[in-house]
Amino acid sequence: MNEPFQGFSKLTRQERYQKLLSTGVLSREEVEYLEHGGLKDLSLGEKFIENVIGYFQLPLGVATHFRIDGKDILIPMAVEETSIVAAASKTAKWIRESGFIQTRVDGHEIIGQIQIAVLHKYDLFSKVILEHKLRLIEMANREVAFGLVKRGGGVTDINVRVLDRPDGLKMGIVHVMVNSCDAMGANVINQVCEFLKEPIESLTGEKVTMCILSNLVTSKITKAEVVLEKVDPELAAKIEEASLFAEIDPYRAATNNKGVLNGIDPILIATGNDWRAVEAGVHAYAARKGAYSSLTRWFREGSRLVGRFEAPLIVGTVGGVTTLHPTAKMAMKILQVESANELSRIIAAVGLVQNLGALKALTTVGIIEGHMKLHIKNLTLGAGAEEKEIPYVQKRLEEILALRKRISLSNAIEVLRELRLQRSSKPDHETHHV
Ligand code: MEV
Repeated sequence: MNEPFQGFSKLTRQERYQKLLSTGVLSREEVEYLEHGGLKDLSLGEKFIENVIGYFQLPLGVATHFRIDGKDILIPMAVEETSIVAAASKTAKWIRESGFIQTRVDGHEIIGQIQIAVLHKYDLFSKVILEHKLRLIEMANREVAFGLVKRGGGVTDINVRVLDRPDGLKMGIVHVMVNSCDAMGANVINQVCEFLKEPIESLTGEKVTMCILSNLVTSKITKAEVVLEKVDPELAAKIEEASLFAEIDPYRAATNNKGVLNGIDPILIATGNDWRAVEAGVHAYAARKGAYSSLTRWFREGSRLVGRFEAPLIVGTVGGVTTLHPTAKMAMKILQVESANELSRIIAAVGLVQNLGALKALTTVGIIEGHMKLHIKNLTLGAGAEEKEIPYVQKRLEEILALRKRISLSNAIEVLRELRLQRSSKPDHETHHV
């Protein structure tokens, strides 16, 4: 299988840039921009938030080996946690060699909510709204969502829910369904709901309390599936057990889902998407059956191991930070996505793959090995080792890790202290080669 990014992790940073250039993923200007530390111009920051004093920078990496729905995709990930990018790439390689990833989005609409805190005539409320639904939709599309209508979207439906309040009264909720095309849709849906407030009040005689989108978008669910052929039966059984653990125990589900989000959030951040909105939606969805549960499920099908992910992953490819932030624009270019749905499907796939990587590690060598080996370098630097001391300290830490299965910053400090002591007490030719 021809893969242009084979061996990418072994390259130096300069060679990585060369690869991105020679494969046409990025232009020379884009590479220079990254090489010189990315965005510097604070005036852009002023456009996003208030009281700006600088930028907070995260490392941007690319995960390799991903083939999603038959398409090779390089995954930009902005994240600080050691081994996420490596684990994603390694697991994607495994799947590329022995299986496949397929994805889809079910549904089109995001949801806006209009609340009437206390309904005075709750039996009439639903009837009146539903009777005038088509007119309300037509008005909202004409007055507010006309841009979306032109692109094939807009307000598509209006539903009514009546909730029991703890004080025995009834609360009315109007759900406004909007197809937001390639926009994340927050602004337009909030505007549509605000716009509908007045007509709803005059039609029903009830008082609207508030209007806002819902992040629990059960009407647009992104799904990913990984199928692995001929998996070692012992490993497949262990992964199935790990999956069951997360399905039935909320304590494990939270950590399992954190591992899924290790794959999701870095892409959201890299592409300038609202990761808090996605997190809120994903967790609410994980608890939709009344108990917090796993977003993923792994099971055996003959000699195959199958994994599934589903959750609302509402993202945009137009508007907001995605089109304004140069690094986010670059991430979008690296991904080469054609629509918000495609971006959402890729994100779901990476979340599921990241989960598989974690479950494989947890049920075999444990998380420490992969995690801490890569972390040793950070510990070495954190302890204050100088360039010439690094190889020795790293080697000693690897030995300690192999021996004790544990390693920490205090080990690194101790090793460095010993090394410096040895050096100061011995003539130069007798000390370690550092
Ligand atoms: C660590 O960032 C993520 C894991 O805890 C996920 C998991 O337990 O499945 C390894």
